Amino acid sequence: MAVHKKEINSVFIILTVYLHLTSGEFSYPDVFDDPERDTLISGQFPDGFAWGSATSAYQVEGGWNEDGKGESIWDTFSHEGRIYNNQTGDVACDSYHKYTEDVQLVKAIGLTHYRFSISWPRILPQGTLAGGINQAGLDYYTDLIDELIANDIEPVVTLYHWDLPQVLQDDYGGWENDTLADLFNDYANLCFAEYASKVNIWITFNEPYVVTWLGYGIGVFAPGIVSPGYAPYRAAHTIIKAHAKAYNTYKNNYFSQYGGKVSITLSTDFGQPKDPENEEDIGAAVRYMQFTAGWFAHPILKNGDYPDVMKWQVGNKSQEQGLPESRLPEFTEEEKQYIKGTGDFFGLNSYTTTVCKHKVTSGDPNYEGDQDVERNQPENWPTSASEWLRPVPWGLRGLLNWVKNEYDDIDIYITENGVSTPDEFNLEDDARVTFYQAYLNEALKAQMYDGVNLVGYFAWSLMDNFEWTSGYSQRFGLHYVDFEDPDRRRTQKKSAEWLTGIVAYNGFSSAQHLQATPLVICLSALIYKLFL
Ligand code: GAL
Repeated sequence: MAVHKKEINSVFIILTVYLHLTSGEFSYPDVFDDPERDTLISGQFPDGFAWGSATSAYQVEGGWNEDGKGESIWDTFSHEGRIYNNQTGDVACDSYHKYTEDVQLVKAIGLTHYRFSISWPRILPQGTLAGGINQAGLDYYTDLIDELIANDIEPVVTLYHWDLPQVLQDDYGGWENDTLADLFNDYANLCFAEYASKVNIWITFNEPYVVTWLGYGIGVFAPGIVSPGYAPYRAAHTIIKAHAKAYNTYKNNYFSQYGGKVSITLSTDFGQPKDPENEEDIGAAVRYMQFTAGWFAHPILKNGDYPDVMKWQVGNKSQEQGLPESRLPEFTEEEKQYIKGTGDFFGLNSYTTTVCKHKVTSGDPNYEGDQDVERNQPENWPTSASEWLRPVPWGLRGLLNWVKNEYDDIDIYITENGVSTPDEFNLEDDARVTFYQAYLNEALKAQMYDGVNLVGYFAWSLMDNFEWTSGYSQRFGLHYVDFEDPDRRRTQKKSAEWLTGIVAYNGFSSAQHLQATPLVICLSALIYKLFL
């Protein structure tokens, strides 16, 4: 019996390596062994580069039950005491009342774009059109969008940043239910009808991997479902269809008039093979990225279907587990046709890198087990206030190259990138300056040296905010927010001042190479603007 298992394992390894070798996979650039790897360079991003910062509704708005807003799954989750220190997003940064101030913060940095999300239950309190539209909710976003435009800032709208109307969780079981694809499409259509004349860049979903794995796999995020082998695949299946429906709704009804772009934002760490010379570890890293970003990007940007390696892995594990069929659902031919090609750019959120080692896994059905990857982050990598986030700037360059290679030179917006610092009053956030400097410089290298079509960069986040289950204990902001103050006073941090210089120059001048002070950077940017 033991021998039999061993044989299965060897066949499995050979097949995995074969799949890796035959799918024209990414080759890991030698540049990462280069002693010059971390040297900063000077140079500029292309003209028209989008400079933005990002937030999301639940994390900043507050006003959780004001003016007719319905409850979301994050209202419920936080009220159940599932967050650090029993904190909630009830008030958060109070952006529901302070959006004009937020717009001024964006403007002061010179950013050209602002990415925010619409709260579905704020405009459809019952989740559906039949349940009634909340005019006050619609007005809030009209006001925010108008305020941005009046200040020459382009709005970038995310339709779903995790705050599902609670009623859709209660009545339908959330994203595991196919009906949600149609309900999301109705909601998206309402947003397009209201705002498409003013908004040109739309993101349907933020990080569906996090929604499905953390929300439905291990249950540490709302709605808190623990079903590691099944629910994430079912929820993802609905989300992909919902995305495709909304994309097609825009293209069929709004595109000819407004010409906007619609896509999805996906998150993944860069998967670095533990031994970059070892084919098995390379295969493991590739599988990791296919199971995170590829899970969604392959159907949406390639052929309407899941990556082959994912179909093979989940199918094979399901068989080993004695199940009658794969736990990975299948799309019909008709579905594949309407899913394929429904993305106008790659929205990429990335913060860190993970080291991947090939490891055959057995046991109960589990999305992570399905990957046969053992992951870790070396202890000697730098740390941040978030346990999962170790700054690894070169990984961003690797990831951008992977996306370029995998998705045919597609335009990429980095829709989120940033770092957390501890919950203390500190405006001299040098760790954040160092992080942005190194990461942005790697983005510049990817664009200048590797030909990656990077068209925009959004810093996460405009201000400290509700960091999901960590509450207010981790601060990601370019602005400090005083959460003890009923007025939620915002104060600019050094990182915001530093970014102002980078944005003004549209890249790194030679002064910005060095750990120059924000003053020197701003002066050189000013000189550049005035005389060049
Ligand atoms: C992303 C998420 C953001 C923010 C950030 C920092 O995954 O989209 O909402 O929380 O991580 O953890």
